[in-house]
Amino acid sequence: LLNKALSSNLIIPEFADFCKEIATIYKKLLPVKGGLNAQYIPQLARVNPDFLGISICTVDGQRFNIGDTDIPFCIQSCSKALNYAISTAELGPKKVHQHLGKEPSGIGFNQISLDKNGLPHNPMINPGAISCCSVLKSGMSLDDRFDYTIGEYKKMAGNEFIGFSNATFLSEKSCADQNFAIGYFLKEHGVFPEGTNLKQTLDLYFQLCSVEATAESAAVIAATLANGGVCPTTQVSCITPDAVRNTLSLMYSCGMYDYSGEWAFEVGLPGKSGVAGSIFIVVPNLMGICVWSPPLDALGNSFRGIQFAKMLCQKFSFHQY
Ligand code: DON
Repeated sequence: LLNKALSSNLIIPEFADFCKEIATIYKKLLPVKGGLNAQYIPQLARVNPDFLGISICTVDGQRFNIGDTDIPFCIQSCSKALNYAISTAELGPKKVHQHLGKEPSGIGFNQISLDKNGLPHNPMINPGAISCCSVLKSGMSLDDRFDYTIGEYKKMAGNEFIGFSNATFLSEKSCADQNFAIGYFLKEHGVFPEGTNLKQTLDLYFQLCSVEATAESAAVIAATLANGGVCPTTQVSCITPDAVRNTLSLMYSCGMYDYSGEWAFEVGLPGKSGVAGSIFIVVPNLMGICVWSPPLDALGNSFRGIQFAKMLCQKFSFHQY
């Protein structure tokens, strides 16, 4: 980074000016009220709804953090994008897509549904994400699969904070009738690879939803995706470029639940949202962003997170088109 700065080769040369604009957006968002924390998991319902953090990491490692960016939160559904990236990088898209599709579903993230090919619609909503967990290092024991996956998250986060909330995991699991129903439905329809242990697959899914990051570490993960799979702070190669492309395509078309079409239209960037109120936003070849604010809108996306993304793309021409 220093070399690049000295030779004025930075990806955002006027980074300080850019950060000032982000700080202005942050200040505008700070008093905004709206939405409600996810209520169905007590651990998420209890988080202070006033938290707001915005973190940025560029593909050449410039950083900016404002607000509550060092407080751990559960990444929830943002794990879905990472699990898909990790499994496609390892197995290739052909193998992974024997068990899940690539189309937006047009229905809520926890609905029981299959696409016209008899597969879950995509890896960014529950049925596809549960199916994706069934292929994730399926030859290993559950403990090794968890260790392996969290290790991959950590690599993508440049060894910055990645934790685990056991309380969230337990509470997630204890109010998961809908996910069990999805799991049995997928099993009945022969979606999983042969020999899949459904209970272990669901455990892995709940555990990975309960992994914690901070806005700061999550921005590094998003920046790794913006940087073709190479972590910008460590230069470690984490995800193959092809798998990154596949992941970003599906984040773009399916990453924001039932708001995905509107998001692609208004914001025009790959994004993934989680019910703890985080949104991972990727500006390809430029930066990764994490915005975190727990209250959710009616579709399950962070209320202030969506406003942030809209304001960002009004100010800067990040929209892909
Ligand atoms: O109930 C679940 O499956 C969640 N904990 C999912 C997390 C989430 O962010 C929404 N899902 N797509």
